Amino acid sequence: MAEKIIIDTDPGIDDAMAIFYALESPELEVLGLTTIFGNGFTDVTTANALKLLEIAERTDIPVSRGADHPFKGKFTDPATFVHGDDGQGNINLPAPLGKPVDERASEFIIQKVNEFPGEVTLVPIGPLTNIALALLAEPGLDKKIKRIVLMGGNCFCAGNATPAAEANIVKDPEAADIVFRAACPITVCGLDVTEKVLMKAAVLDSIGEIDNPRAQHLAKILPFYRSFYKTVLGDTDIHVHDSTAITYLLRPELFTVIKRPVVVATCNGVGRGKTFPGRHEFDHMGLWKDRQAVEICINADVPAVIDFEMKRLADSKV
Ligand code: BDR
Ligand code: CA
Repeated sequence: MAEKIIIDTDPGIDDAMAIFYALESPELEVLGLTTIFGNGFTDVTTANALKLLEIAERTDIPVSRGADHPFKGKFTDPATFVHGDDGQGNINLPAPLGKPVDERASEFIIQKVNEFPGEVTLVPIGPLTNIALALLAEPGLDKKIKRIVLMGGNCFCAGNATPAAEANIVKDPEAADIVFRAACPITVCGLDVTEKVLMKAAVLDSIGEIDNPRAQHLAKILPFYRSFYKTVLGDTDIHVHDSTAITYLLRPELFTVIKRPVVVATCNGVGRGKTFPGRHEFDHMGLWKDRQAVEICINADVPAVIDFEMKRLADSKV
């Protein structure tokens, strides 16, 4: 039976890759896309989620609009320099035809988890605000979630949004810290692994040769993302952050993981948003005592990960 998943997303160019990848994977049943601010404001990411489902001819999948701002303060800094003003590489997509459902993202998550207790996997690939709101709104919800497999954080490496922190976590550290206290199994696909999963120029060029609307859309939006990497990081390869969480769901044997409890720095200043892995046996100050150890992906069989994703983008039968 396919694993029921909800993708909580801020599309986003790498989000688009991850969403199409999941939709092409018969092992997964996408119950819905819930949207969040991050790569764009929530209006923009919600329109993009609807549009991506139209491109994929999967308008049967509901989109639920999520939070507009983090737990603390306003959201003011969409990553337009990475993903474009429209979050999809500035390609002037027409407005979507469909609309989001009436339930807000946290309500949608609660509803689906209660409809299928123990069966729903949450796959957040943006800031964790919606997930934290759902956990707070319904105490005990975490015991009914099958697992959370998220893209976010940097336990053993530097950040990307700031020297200390990764973008999805630093955009709402308070929410992220609530999620790391949840009781369900959690797997973290953060920069520790996603920065190792490099997609090379030749592979990226070949996406345009795949004859389906999803790949053709990716071929249009990827140049913006690639030029960000080229001009800012000086590299022709890109990190496929969000897709890595989908590969973990499908092929966990391709990953090396270690188990540690994680605390998120919610202080102000340079350390804000850093994910700190701890060790319960050495936790003399009790900093990690209120949370379980989660799985942190630290390495992957990179050629196999890239190969699998590329095959899926071309054909769901592989
Ligand atoms: C994360 O930040 C966003 O820009 C990407 O979509 C990804 O989810 C990587 O740090
Ligand atoms: Ca994302």
